[in-house]
Amino acid sequence: MTARLLDGKAVAARVRGEVLARTVALAARGLVPGLAVVLVGEDPASAVYVRSKAKAARECGVAAFDYTLPKEISEAELLTLVRSLNDDPTVHGILVQLPLPSHIRTRKVIEAISPEKDVDGFHPLNVGLLAQGTPRFVPCTPLGCMTLLAEAGAELAGARAIVIGRSNIVGKPMAALLTARDATVTLAHSRTRDLAGEILRADVIVAALGRAEAIRGEWIKPGAIVIDVGINRTAEGKLIGDVEFAAAAERASAITPVPGGVGPMTIAMLLANTVDAAASVTV
Ligand code: GUN
Repeated sequence: MTARLLDGKAVAARVRGEVLARTVALAARGLVPGLAVVLVGEDPASAVYVRSKAKAARECGVAAFDYTLPKEISEAELLTLVRSLNDDPTVHGILVQLPLPSHIRTRKVIEAISPEKDVDGFHPLNVGLLAQGTPRFVPCTPLGCMTLLAEAGAELAGARAIVIGRSNIVGKPMAALLTARDATVTLAHSRTRDLAGEILRADVIVAALGRAEAIRGEWIKPGAIVIDVGINRTAEGKLIGDVEFAAAAERASAITPVPGGVGPMTIAMLLANTVDAAASVTV
C-alpha cells in the first residue's frame, strides 16, 4: 500500500476533545449544550447509531435527551414532540434519526425543526444557505469528509472533484461544500455514463453510493485522494466501503479506511454542530 491512511478515529477524537473544551467553557457561563435524539421504531442499525450518538454526547459534556418512540406513533404526535423540543431552552440541537416509517412524511418533520436547532442541516433553510455559499448548519457526514480532506492537505481550489451519489444527506451537500472551496465538481450517480472515465479524471473522489466496492481500484487516478463514505456489511458480517480498498490504496495518495474513516467523523461533527448551536444562544 502506498496511500496515506486517513485515520478518522484519531481525527474524530481530536474534534471531540475540542468540543469538550468548548462545553467546559460554556459550563463556566452556566450553559450546558443539549442534544435531543429522536428515534422512531426499532430498526437495529438506527438504534446502534442513536445510542452511540447519545454516549459520545455525554462524554463531551453535551446533555443528551433520548426519545425512542414506537413505530406506530402518528405524524401529528411526532410533530408535537418536535415543536415542544423547539420551545425547550435546555435543547440546542434536535436530531430525528432517518429513515422514518413510511406513514410519516419526512419532509413535514424536517420542516418542523427550528432551523436554529437543526444540527443535521436538513431543514430547507439550512440547505438553501449552504447552496448559496453562506452555510449555517452543514450535514454532519459531508462536514466530516471536509475535515478529513483538510487532514490530507488537499488543495481543493481548481482541483477536479467527483462525488458519487446524490443523496440529500451526503452527496448534494458534499458537492456544495467542494464548490464553495473552488473545486470543479462532478456529481455522479446511478445514471452517469462512463463512471470509470469520470472518476479517472478526478483529483478528489468522494464515494457515497452505498454499494460494496463498486468503485474499482483501477479507476483511481494515481495520487488522488479517496474519501469512502460507504458502510456495507458482507455476508460474513465484515464492514466494507464503496471503494475497492486494497487496489485503490496502491494508486491513491491518501485514502480513508472502512471502518475507522468517515464513520467516526459524523458523530464528532454532530457534537460540534450542537456546541455551535448552544454557543449562538445569548444567555
Ligand atoms: N440517517 C443516516 N444518516 C443520518 C444522519 O446523519 N442524520 C439523521 N438524522 N439520520 C441519518
